[in-house]
Amino acid sequence: MGVAHYFAPWQHLRHSDQMNGLFRYFAPGLVALPLVTVLAGAEPANEAIGRATAAIQAAAPRAQSDPARPIFHVTAPAQWINDPNGPIYYKGFYHLFYQLHPFSDQSGPKYWGHVRSRDLAKWEPLPIALWPSSEAGEAEVWSGCCTINGQGEPMIFYTSIAPGKSAQTHAEQWAAIGDDDLITWRKSAANPMLSESLHGGKKIYDWRDPFIFRHQKRTFMVTGGNLNAAKGGQAVVNIYEAENAGLTQWKYRGVLFTLPDAAARTAECPNFFKLGDQWVLFVSPYGKVQYFLGDFDAKTCRFEARTRGLLDCGPNFYAPNTMQVPDGRRLVWGWVTGFPGGHGWNGCLSLPRELSLSREGQLRQAPAPQLSKLRGRRLEWKNIRLESGSETLVLPGTNALEIHADIDLKMAESVVLEFKSGASNARPVEVKYSGTELRVLDVAASLPLSGSVRKLTLRIFLDRSVLEVFANDTVCITKHISTLDASAILTIHAQGSTAIAKLVQAWPMKAIW
Ligand code: FRU
Repeated sequence: MGVAHYFAPWQHLRHSDQMNGLFRYFAPGLVALPLVTVLAGAEPANEAIGRATAAIQAAAPRAQSDPARPIFHVTAPAQWINDPNGPIYYKGFYHLFYQLHPFSDQSGPKYWGHVRSRDLAKWEPLPIALWPSSEAGEAEVWSGCCTINGQGEPMIFYTSIAPGKSAQTHAEQWAAIGDDDLITWRKSAANPMLSESLHGGKKIYDWRDPFIFRHQKRTFMVTGGNLNAAKGGQAVVNIYEAENAGLTQWKYRGVLFTLPDAAARTAECPNFFKLGDQWVLFVSPYGKVQYFLGDFDAKTCRFEARTRGLLDCGPNFYAPNTMQVPDGRRLVWGWVTGFPGGHGWNGCLSLPRELSLSREGQLRQAPAPQLSKLRGRRLEWKNIRLESGSETLVLPGTNALEIHADIDLKMAESVVLEFKSGASNARPVEVKYSGTELRVLDVAASLPLSGSVRKLTLRIFLDRSVLEVFANDTVCITKHISTLDASAILTIHAQGSTAIAKLVQAWPMKAIW
């Protein structure tokens, strides 16, 4: 690969005289884009990135002036994105890559976009990281992971799709090697890293989405797939073990786990990791993302699940990917789906969530604490008696908000929070707790309150057309919504008997760029 440089926009101003004759990229607009420069005489790889970058640049003004586009969720500068890929903390930065179709705001042949952050609050867009190497017989670069191999080299593992081949029946797992900033990547000369012949006679359909984990000084990879596409399923997670420090040789260790449901057609984007004393498996089975908690036997390479649940009960959260940070915490991001096309952008990543286990061994999810850096001036209300008549709270004058509510339900049957605005087409966002159920618009999730104190803690993030609700750090609901306008009010009332809103706080949220 030719030499590629990248500069932040402000550096561009200082360094522009050094770039004579080089391809330049700088998009003006709400989001400051980085600059990619590629030396003349570069290989097709750089041309591919250059063409894709120019397409993003052309779409950026339209995308960035759309009032529905979120401001504190990670998006591409423009065009289509899907899965978060290769989250990694490396040399002081949180890096996130994502599936990107640079040529339209609908799905199409995938590249890898890239952003990084020092603090999980402010993010910096970076040049496209991976592109399909047409000269090497590649049409798409699908989801995967990023790791540092035993020789200290940054590596991306991903699913390579060949031109004209169906991903259901043909796929290979390839690798790219990165520079020390994880900015520029070159395809490994050893590709394919894993090909179907590893499985002997066994046919694995929809074989994709490598995820690497380490355990007892061994390096493992899991991939998703299914064993019986014709008959509609048998979704499996496959496991492999590295045979050398450079991670170029792998051995198939069999099926780590077979999804128990006949209805699960496949297992996309598996993530497998240890959390506290449990092993956690995430899979995206063309439906709501499932998690399983259980035990991993490293000798036999089998996972035994004890419990299961949904990572998010909303209709718009898919293909999550996790990162372990140096202090051991595990963060997860998902792809937020469900946006209309035709606006020059489509899709974003969820907020970073921190995972933990409750004392009873249940999976808990909370918004990463660093998100508080994005908060503006707080409004606060205390000890509001909630009766059948509504209390009205006037929110900060923006449609990018975080709301925190601590509610003691006492003997009330239900509590209803409604976000309303004057925008003619904006349907109010209703959050209702009743019985043992949390309902957000048309999405219902079971949330039994334990003990005699019926306490509900809600963290609600409204980012223009994106809604994320966290209830008691257990239930999450992500949903695409009609954008509220900037003078929204929150009404709250109780039904059946009096409840107390002990504390309600609201913050205007700043943009992450
Ligand atoms: C999940 C997924 C992955 C695949 C990628 C392609 O949304 O289908 O299985 O690698 O998207 O963009």
